[in-house]
Amino acid sequence: PRRVRVHHLQAAKERGERLTMLTAYDAVTARLFDEAGIDMLLVGDSIGNTMHGYATTLPVTLDEIVVAARAVAGAARRAFVVADLPFGTYEAGPEQALASAVRVMKETGVSAVKIEGGQRSVPQIRALTAAGVPVVAHLGYTPQSENALGGPRVQGRGQAAEQISDDAVAVTEAGAVAVVLEMVPAPVAARITEVVRIPTIGIGAGAECDGQVLVWVDMAGMGDWSPRFAKRFGEVGQALTAAARAFADEVRGGAFPAAEHSFDA
Ligand code: KIV
Ligand code: NA
Repeated sequence: PRRVRVHHLQAAKERGERLTMLTAYDAVTARLFDEAGIDMLLVGDSIGNTMHGYATTLPVTLDEIVVAARAVAGAARRAFVVADLPFGTYEAGPEQALASAVRVMKETGVSAVKIEGGQRSVPQIRALTAAGVPVVAHLGYTPQSENALGGPRVQGRGQAAEQISDDAVAVTEAGAVAVVLEMVPAPVAARITEVVRIPTIGIGAGAECDGQVLVWVDMAGMGDWSPRFAKRFGEVGQALTAAARAFADEVRGGAFPAAEHSFDA
């Protein structure tokens, strides 16, 4: 399969083809989602919540992202792989952002990095873009700022719609290759999608975005709870529990391993 590259994202928007993105944190899921034809894989800092059991994304380190991103980029043959820059690795300014992004690009093989924030992140987006590192922006509900935002809440209602639209224009002008819109009212996301030339990738941002992203454990139904914006497209958690239970039953009952799983002398 031909690798999805940065110009294909723009071309997809121009042709009106919806882009698909899922998170992935390891080689196992990266291979499965790549084979399913998912266009973009995000090594999100949601790895903190989903894989490491942290309460928030804030403790996630660049080391943790690098290890996961290397596994995902190594396993994906077609997908465009994006790695999150975690909290504390880019906010200080363009130099810090560049140091972090260069490390990710050198050590992992991903095609782009994602950073949160609009106007405040414009200098970082400019510096990375100038250095040849494609940047995906992230607006609306930005989990790294959850303490300031007061938890997961819709952003851009009423007067605040203008601010998000301005941010979307600002990150586009700074050179972002795509923008994630998280928990933004559908009409606001639709208008941004019309106004900016780069693809908008929505999560809880309605049907008019150029693409959609979900955290894979929500998409696959791994836990008993999923956020309202995340449809469960499978019940993989139940399937895994059932498989583990069947394994245990057969071991305890003596049915596994059978002769075909054993070796002759
Ligand atoms: O870390 C993540 O999973 C994300 C998506 C929700 C866009 O940033
Ligand atoms: Na993230």
